[in-house]
Amino acid sequence: MILRHAITKHWVVTLFLVSFLVSSFFAFSDRNSKLQQPIAFSHKKHMDLGMECVSCHIGAEEGIHAGIPKTEICARCHVPGQDYPPTPKELAQYIESGKEIPWLQFQVGKRHVYFSHRRHVKIAQLDCTECHGDIRNMDQPITRAYFPSGQKGMNRCIDCHRRNQVTTDCYACHR
Ligand code: HEC
Ligand code: HEC
Ligand code: HEC
Ligand code: HEC
Ligand code: HEC
Repeated sequence: MILRHAITKHWVVTLFLVSFLVSSFFAFSDRNSKLQQPIAFSHKKHMDLGMECVSCHIGAEEGIHAGIPKTEICARCHVPGQDYPPTPKELAQYIESGKEIPWLQFQVGKRHVYFSHRRHVKIAQLDCTECHGDIRNMDQPITRAYFPSGQKGMNRCIDCHRRNQVTTDCYACHR
């Protein structure tokens, strides 16, 4: 009787686990299918040409936001109808219509936090990789926020500030 009870319990747990795994698998693949960038953009392809990060993210040295490049920046090189560089159909449509490409953005600041790229890139002379990781070698479009140290929340900021004897005063960032 005790044994049968144990077996039933075992099955209930297994069933529960299986259904949990199955449902989370579908939830996961569903989420991933929604997270598609509109164009298969490769950072690596462009960095291999000798481009700089700031030629597309033009606000990173002088502004608060680095910015996602506008279609007109792509159009400096990509000319629909021309053989080289190759311009996929989707990109050609945005360039011809002058519409902005609806890129998904994953690295978004909180409204109660002040963060300036200029302060970190131009004044502190930090490399983009310190905070964004190895984007230079990414062959696929970005579908999540990367932070190389793996830290979460405001520890990402505070840790580096401590190491560099920069302020950790709450009001420096929360203003
Ligand atoms: C400085 C010139 C330049 C700029 C600016 C530029 N590209 Fe490119 N792009 C190229 C070149 C050259 C290639 C081909 C690279 C290769 O074949 O390895 C390319 C390749 C591509 C490809 C792959 C095409 C294929 O079929 O293989 C895509 C997609 C693309 N670029 C999108 C973009 C987008 C989107 C932008 C704007 C955010 C952009 N490019 C800005 C020069 C540029
Ligand atoms: C040819 C233009 C171009 C160059 C050069 C370029 N980027 Fe990008 N970057 C883009 C485009 C387009 C996107 C949006 C599509 C994507 O996420 O793949 C993007 C997205 C990003 C994002 C993600 C933004 C977010 O919140 O989702 C980061 C971070 C980034 N780039 C950093 C860099 C760094 C660092 C370099 C230099 C190593 C660089 N980029 C060089 C065009 C460029
Ligand atoms: C000290 C860390 C740090 C450095 C260095 C840094 N970034 Fe960022 N970046 C961030 C944070 C944090 C965000 C989130 C947006 C915010 O808070 O405004 C961000 C957002 C972005 C975005 C998303 C669009 C935007 O403007 O918010 C892009 C693109 C980007 N960074 C590119 C770059 C490039 C290119 C460099 C190097 C020239 C760079 N970043 C250097 C921390 C950094
Ligand atoms: C990789 C190191 C690093 C990271 C990560 C970093 N910072 Fe900084 N931060 C610095 C340095 C270095 C300075 C000093 C720049 C200077 O000389 O003015 C600074 C300065 C600042 C300042 C100006 C401080 C003052 O004295 O007024 C603010 C605000 C700030 N950072 C906010 C942030 C926020 C918000 C984050 C996280 C999203 C962050 N920082 C992440 C290195 C970093
Ligand atoms: C160097 C910048 C920096 C400093 C200094 C700082 N914070 Fe933050 N704080 C942040 C960032 C960035 C976030 C948002 C983290 C995230 O993206 O989840 C945050 C989030 C928070 C949150 C959570 C709110 C939320 O979004 O969930 C609280 C509470 C908070 N900070 C309190 C403080 C207090 C209290 C101090 C002083 C002891 C302080 N912070 C100092 C950058 C900073």
